[in-house]
Amino acid sequence: MEHKTHYAICIMNPDGDSGVKGLVKLVQEHGGKTKISAEITGLAPGLHGFHIHEFGNLTEGCKTAGPHYNPEGKVHGGPDMEIRHVGDLGNVTAGDDGVAKYECEDALVHLSGETSVIGRSFVVHAGVDDLGQGGHELSSTTGNAGGRLACGVIGLSNAF
Ligand code: CU
Ligand code: ZN
Repeated sequence: MEHKTHYAICIMNPDGDSGVKGLVKLVQEHGGKTKISAEITGLAPGLHGFHIHEFGNLTEGCKTAGPHYNPEGKVHGGPDMEIRHVGDLGNVTAGDDGVAKYECEDALVHLSGETSVIGRSFVVHAGVDDLGQGGHELSSTTGNAGGRLACGVIGLSNAF
């Protein structure tokens, strides 16, 4: 057990000309749940899928971030489900001003160790993540959340 607080940060930049960007902060104390807080701007009002994807490779924009981070080979789900990808954080909700504020505490997202998310990417999507329940052929892999609007690499941070 590590008795140390880890901090990470992710600056999300627009994919192409989406105009969507954001900032995500992560804190994990003493091997406990990771607190994730995000603010994303430039979205259409409503729900947008929000995930940690496997790679920090954004050489061709958000698409080269790969699939949802899924070190245990599970099917797609939502953050409160027993069976899910580690990267499945559900949806952010944007208001009429296009701003989404998201906060959660997650037990599967880690900032150190073998399944650390450091160096991977956050992605926000054009559509709603159906949390695996939509009955679409993509529901069990991506939640059928549609295109990738913005993304960024998760990096280590000093305390904030
Ligand atoms: Cu995603
Ligand atoms: Zn997933």
